Amino acid sequence: MPQVSKLSDKSKAGPKPSRSIAKVGIIGAGQMGSGIAHVVALSGYTVALNDLKRESYDKGIELIGHNMTRQVAKGLIKDADKDEAIERITFAPSMADFGDCDLVIEAATEDEDLKHKIFAALCPHLKPTALLASNTSSISITRLAATTDRPEDFIGMHFMNPVPLMELVELIRGIATEDETFATARTFVESLGKKIAVSEDFPAFIVNRILLPMINEAVYTLYEGVGTVEAIDKAMKLGAHHPMGPLELADFIGLDTCLSVMQVLYEGLSDSKYRPCPLLVKYVEAGWLGRKTRRGFYDYRGEKPVPTR
Ligand SMILES: NC(=O)c1ccc[n+]([C@@H]2O[C@H](COP(=O)([O-])OP(=O)(O)OC[C@H]3O[C@@H](n4cnc5c(N)ncnc54)[C@H](O)[C@@H]3O)[C@@H](O)[C@H]2O)c1
Repeated sequence: MPQVSKLSDKSKAGPKPSRSIAKVGIIGAGQMGSGIAHVVALSGYTVALNDLKRESYDKGIELIGHNMTRQVAKGLIKDADKDEAIERITFAPSMADFGDCDLVIEAATEDEDLKHKIFAALCPHLKPTALLASNTSSISITRLAATTDRPEDFIGMHFMNPVPLMELVELIRGIATEDETFATARTFVESLGKKIAVSEDFPAFIVNRILLPMINEAVYTLYEGVGTVEAIDKAMKLGAHHPMGPLELADFIGLDTCLSVMQVLYEGLSDSKYRPCPLLVKYVEAGWLGRKTRRGFYDYRGEKPVPTR
């Protein structure tokens, strides 16, 4: 069982983590919550995974099983590692189930009011020493932390999608985050085999501050008729060596999440250069959210993806 403890951080300068982490709570079993549960359980931690409905949890576990089977086929993990990891994950239908967690990571839908409500319901059940983290892509960590009973024990822990494959986690301190909280979070993230990049607490942090305006610009390029969906994605894949085209990537992230991040940038930085493209708004209003609803800039309902414009 990996433990985040003083001993594991001996070689690093700066404050030492003084808290052990053995059990991790995760709120939201969507693509990010299930991905985080995947890597956390595989690294030996016990996981309590919550979502609004049992079906969402079951879907999350199914996805974890599917992705771990791929890792087994590639020889990255053994069959027994997969079985043991899945056994370490349990459904946590109520906030009271997080009472014995050392760390709770919130990975629910990107909506600030919703996140505030989750923290208000969660905090009375947490033990005093528990750390709280949010996987938000864009929302102010300081503001989220201020709605909890432990702003000094609150941190932004921004995993990348797909979590089992991506190496990076951004760590974001809120104004009140204590050094020891940061050190514990860093040691925990490194114990998952991930690298950290430290970002200041400004809208969308580092990765999405750069990535999402590019995606939004790709949607404008489509909206203004400069190129078709296929031409835009092909241009960026072959012309800029991006592994995925920006519209394909938008579908992968989720168009609701993309829109929400653009709104946070637009409002948070009060700069018109971040205005969300009206076509992105239209897709979200239609409920065409990308891969997760099987339709976005591509239609995924057939054998292979077909552009929707
Ligand atoms: N999609 C990405 O590429 C990406 C990358 C990094 C971070 N994030 C962030 O991760 C978070 C989740 O995004 P996602 O892509 O997994 O979204 P998603 O739509 O796949 O999943 C969100 C999950 O949260 C659940 N949920 C909603 N309200 C809840 C509540 N009150 N209590 C418990 N569960 C609730 C939903 O039922 C759903 O299963 C967001 O904050 C997002 O910004 C997303």
